Amino acid sequence: MPTIELVTEVPGPKSLALARRREAASARGAAKLTDVGVAHAHGAAVVDVDGNTLLDFAGGIGVLAVGHTPEGVVAALQRQAAELVHLCAIVGSYEPYVALLERLVAIAPGDHPKKAILLNSGAEAVETAVKIARAATGRPAVLVFEGAYHGRTNLTLAMTSKYGLFKKGFGPFAPEVYRVPFPDLFRRPPHLSDAEVIAEAIAGLERALVAQVDPSALAAVVVEPVQGEGGFVPAPPAFLRALRDLCTRYGVVLVADEVQSGMGRTGRLWAVEHAGVVPDLLVAAKSLGAGMPIAAVVGRADLMDAPHPGGLGGTYSGNPLACVAALAAIDLVTAPGFLERARAVGDRLRGHLDRFAERFEAVGDVRGLGPMLAIELVADRATKRPAPDVVQRTTAEALRRGLIVLRAGLYGNCVRLLPPLDLSDAQIDEGMAVLEQALAVATGTDARAGVAR
Ligand SMILES: Cc1ncc(COP(=O)(O)O)c(C=O)c1O
Repeated sequence: MPTIELVTEVPGPKSLALARRREAASARGAAKLTDVGVAHAHGAAVVDVDGNTLLDFAGGIGVLAVGHTPEGVVAALQRQAAELVHLCAIVGSYEPYVALLERLVAIAPGDHPKKAILLNSGAEAVETAVKIARAATGRPAVLVFEGAYHGRTNLTLAMTSKYGLFKKGFGPFAPEVYRVPFPDLFRRPPHLSDAEVIAEAIAGLERALVAQVDPSALAAVVVEPVQGEGGFVPAPPAFLRALRDLCTRYGVVLVADEVQSGMGRTGRLWAVEHAGVVPDLLVAAKSLGAGMPIAAVVGRADLMDAPHPGGLGGTYSGNPLACVAALAAIDLVTAPGFLERARAVGDRLRGHLDRFAERFEAVGDVRGLGPMLAIELVADRATKRPAPDVVQRTTAEALRRGLIVLRAGLYGNCVRLLPPLDLSDAQIDEGMAVLEQALAVATGTDARAGVAR
């Protein structure tokens, strides 16, 4: 039985009406990528307000590693809602708050003593990690990478790359943020090997510590082990290990921003595990709460305790509902077999994407880590000129056929896959068949790939 079932065009009339009401009342800056209006959802299936059932490979932008409305999360929320919705962890303690801290400390990488703090969003948690690093080192500067996305608050906006979409009109940005190139193995000078690209990136880093900021002023290096918004560019393991060495050498705090790559998204609980690197601080959010807004910083206890009491946190940080959702999500992701299935999902998805690369000239690159996968679309394989227009058409054509899928990339020319990690083989094949049809239409390869309803 296919998941996708269309009874109207997508978006249908009720979706469009909802979208128009939203546009009239919502600030333009809070943009939407589709005009779909959703009534309810379960697993990878989303039912829209017109009664269409869509397959969701966007997963709330990487929030739904365990899918929509998983039973364990819903039951935990219902139980908790009847008992305690809010106290404020500044006022006092409650069991789910403490249990989640303990759980995070237990599952974060590294055998050293660890502590954690709960926040509301990825951006807030990244800011908190920087505050902790600054308090612990007494240094001001932060080093980040081209292609990085760390959020939209003032400090994280300074840390985020991709000016046009995220930063235009919002400066001045927070000072003491330095940016160096990220080793993107696809967009490299053609005469360099993988190893040379990585060596060049490491050399660039060392150069930045002379040319841009002295290590004695550097509090933290913040890195996404797999760049998310940047287009699912994995940091080569050798590069992550070099970052680890450099941070250790200079007493700099290594912060892994695992907001998008964590909680099983790459087929391991944390993406840094692929490289065998233990960061000093790890930032988690998105799939941590299975849809509830919660984020965390977890890492070395000596660093975590550097800020003075009262210096971190906020009114809603570690809200009881968000905590029980996170505990249930962690239970699901760490349950026997979940990560194995995630890796198998990744293999099957990659098989399809590799096939697309053979069929469509426009698919310049297939990349990612485990099931965190994307394709990069180019107008020309030789020049690698980005083709964001083809991505736009592909995602629109996919949606018309019942598949929700998102773009990514510094140039907006990637299609990224963020389905639930326990997707069935049938759903994978169904979604990828739709994506293939959409690519065929978007690239003009097969104009007959119509919409089946
Ligand atoms: C790697 C990374 N860091 C930080 C953020 C910001 O998270 P939030 O949108 O919850 O503030 C995101 C969001 O996409 C992200 O992908």
